[in-house]
Amino acid sequence: MKKAWWKEAIVYQIYPRSFCDSNGDGIGDLNGITSKLDYLKELGIDVIWLSPVYKSPNDDNGYDISDYEAIMTEFGNMDDFDKMLSEAHKRGIKIVMDLVVNHTSDEHPWFVESRSSKDNPKRDYYIWKEGKNGKEPNNWGSAFSGPAWKYDEKTDMYYLHLFSTKQPDLNWENQKVRKEVFDMMTRWCKKGIDGFRMDVISLISKPEGFPDAKVVGLYGDMNICANGPKVHDYLKEMNQKVLSKFDIMTVGETAGVTLDEAKRYANSEGSELNMVFQFEHMNLDSGEKFKWSTKHIPLVPLKENLTKWQLGLDDVAWNSLYFCNHDQPRIVSRLGDDSDEFRELSAKCIATCLHMMQGTPYVYQGEELGMTNTVFNSVDDFRDLESVNAYRELIESGLYTKEDMFPKIAHKSRDNARTPMPWDTSENAGFTTGIPWLALNPNYNKINVADQLKREDSVFHYYQKLIKLRKEYEIIVYGKYELLLPDDEHIFAYVRTLGNQKLLVVCNFSKTEQKFDFSGYENAKVLISNYDGNISEKATLKPYSAIALLLDNAQKM
Ligand code: GLC
Ligand code: CA
Repeated sequence: MKKAWWKEAIVYQIYPRSFCDSNGDGIGDLNGITSKLDYLKELGIDVIWLSPVYKSPNDDNGYDISDYEAIMTEFGNMDDFDKMLSEAHKRGIKIVMDLVVNHTSDEHPWFVESRSSKDNPKRDYYIWKEGKNGKEPNNWGSAFSGPAWKYDEKTDMYYLHLFSTKQPDLNWENQKVRKEVFDMMTRWCKKGIDGFRMDVISLISKPEGFPDAKVVGLYGDMNICANGPKVHDYLKEMNQKVLSKFDIMTVGETAGVTLDEAKRYANSEGSELNMVFQFEHMNLDSGEKFKWSTKHIPLVPLKENLTKWQLGLDDVAWNSLYFCNHDQPRIVSRLGDDSDEFRELSAKCIATCLHMMQGTPYVYQGEELGMTNTVFNSVDDFRDLESVNAYRELIESGLYTKEDMFPKIAHKSRDNARTPMPWDTSENAGFTTGIPWLALNPNYNKINVADQLKREDSVFHYYQKLIKLRKEYEIIVYGKYELLLPDDEHIFAYVRTLGNQKLLVVCNFSKTEQKFDFSGYENAKVLISNYDGNISEKATLKPYSAIALLLDNAQKM
């Protein structure tokens, strides 16, 4: 298998708004990030993926950009950015920028011009259509509720917005749009950034003729735009004109990606992107019609799914390994057990299971502390437009009662991931001296950085160890993967193989004891475990126990 630095790297995602506030306005900022780089260095990560920091009216917290080459006022300015970048580089940490180019903000000058008249030179930068019988051009729904089209009185036409009405979709068919995007990317690369995480990049090529889509929930499924007819052409062009000219890392956020499509996006010839984020494993706890539910992620389907991706991309493409990001509720509450008794154990179990697989691991801020979902007392506690809109729409439509909907939204809301980073036990957890833009998770007295840095057995130190192991043992990065016990409902076990070495990973995803046969591994070395004790004792797996064992056959003989 071809080696590459980005295959061996560990990425840490920062959601700047919630990471660290340096000036007391309640909003995290770039100087806050710079002040915490030593913390990240201690954790051992190599790359930061920075959620958007560009100028934005913040309808979707920066995923609605009004200037790709200016910094969001609340986050600081370009000097602060340059300082953060050089301080990161000094510590050997790379910075990957979020690239949001499926859409801009409706306040971006391109859109302001585009909407001004039908013959404006920028009209065709966006997707404008005539209505059909006084209604939207087709039945597509927006990811943030309501139709994906907004009527604009000025020119009596509709524009497409797969996300909020303030996030009009760019028209990638227009080569001027592509040129603007590629030139902007080139300028960022020349500035010295180390890569791009490409927001919903699978959606940039819309299906020909804009046909109605199959209705899921209330509207036609906007995923009809996923992996569209020209998406691979556009990415190849981007690769030729920009990516191939720099030593950078690229990861595509690819809603609706299938295994076959992923093999194209992340092909090992390197003609498009380095890797993609797939969503199948994150959809396993969805409700029947929507993502909203109070379900737990079921283990057998999870094993089946992750195994499919491990085997499917081996040698031909490259996986991203993630359970958490700013769009996903906290994994300990979804897959582990967030009670006091099992929170740390299950966080370590989940981490072991993910970090010993093949792919590039992503750690989302607070995941390394085993952070949990937060507590919402009323609808007014939500800040995320997705949650607020869905709550209103699904109750108004009569599909759910308030009583039904509240626990679902509380469990799956993206705000669960966005509560400010708990640094210590002082007021507002050391995140801000002001009023935080989103309430802290009330458990910050129990879960915070200061406490975990002090405790040798903390989740933080466990992540630190996992990260270190990946750098010491090639088998963790490059080894082949094989699933054991596919039907076992409690144990997630697999073997990695490289040359003469075997790595056995056994995780008990339940709060009861389980049996496991370790024969053949009696002489193996314990690389990591969340319990003490030797292997023979481990034949009985304790609740949420996890262990990784290395067997070197060459050594034994
Ligand atoms: C991606 C982002 C998400 C954002 C959406 C629209 O899914 O991760 O946070 O709301 O795209 O840009
Ligand atoms: Ca601030």
